[in-house]
Amino acid sequence: MGTQEAEIFEDLKKILRYYEALGIDNIPVSLERDQYIDIDFSGDKNILLDGLREEIGDCTRCKLSKHRKKIVFGEGNPNARLMFIGEAPGREEDNQGMPFVGEAGMLLTRLIEKMGLKRNNVYIANIIKCRPPMNRDPEEDEIKTCRVFIERQIEIIMPEVIITLGRIALQSVMNNPVLKITSVRGNFFEYKGIPLMPTFHPAYLLRNPKDKWLTWTDMQKVMQRLKIEIN
Ligand code: URA
Ligand code: URA
Repeated sequence: MGTQEAEIFEDLKKILRYYEALGIDNIPVSLERDQYIDIDFSGDKNILLDGLREEIGDCTRCKLSKHRKKIVFGEGNPNARLMFIGEAPGREEDNQGMPFVGEAGMLLTRLIEKMGLKRNNVYIANIIKCRPPMNRDPEEDEIKTCRVFIERQIEIIMPEVIITLGRIALQSVMNNPVLKITSVRGNFFEYKGIPLMPTFHPAYLLRNPKDKWLTWTDMQKVMQRLKIEIN
C-alpha cells in the first residue's frame, strides 16, 4: 500500500470509529463499482509484474529465443478489470516489444474502444512471449514452457473477466487441446474462478470480416458481466 492509500485507510478508520462511538454498528454500503475506480491501487501489482518480467529476463527457456528480437511481455493497466489474451507476437510486436501493435492490433484497439473502454485501461498479453518464425503456430513444448508466465500475469492482475483471442489462446489457457473455437465462442468458461470468454482472433476477423458481428455479440456479454453500459 502506498502512502496515499495508507492515509485514505487511516481516514476511513477514524470515520468508522466516530460512527461506532455514536452507537452505529452497521452501515449500508454499495459495492457496485463505477466503470473504473479512481483511486489507483495498482502500485503493488506493478511491482509484482516488474518482478515477473525480471524473472523472465533475457529468456532462453525455449527455441523461440533464437530468432526473436524482443520479448513481448504484455502491457496495460495492472488493475484492469478486463484482460485480453492473444497467441504470440507477430513481426510488428517483435520489433516493438509490445502486444497487438500490428494490423490485428489495430482491430483489437478499435474493438476495445467500441466497448467504451480505453486500450490503456485493460491489460493485453499473449500466451507466448516470443515471435514464432514466419508466424507459425506455437508448438507444444513452447506453450508448455511459456504458459506459466501468463498464469502468473493472470494471478497478479486478477481481472474480473478474461477474453481469449483465437483457438491457441483458448486451448492454452484452459489447458484443453480439443476445444473448438467456432463451437464454443460466445460462451463463458471459468479459469480459476474467473469468467473467461473465448472469441475469434482479430487476425481471423481481418480475413473473415463477416464474422465480426459474432465477436461483437461476445463482447456485449462481457460488458454485461462487467456492468459496462455503452452509449
Ligand atoms: N497476434 C497475437 O496473437 N498477439 C499479438 O500480440 C499480435 C498478433
Ligand atoms: N480459428 C482460429 O484459430 N482462430 C479464430 O479466431 C477463428 C478460427
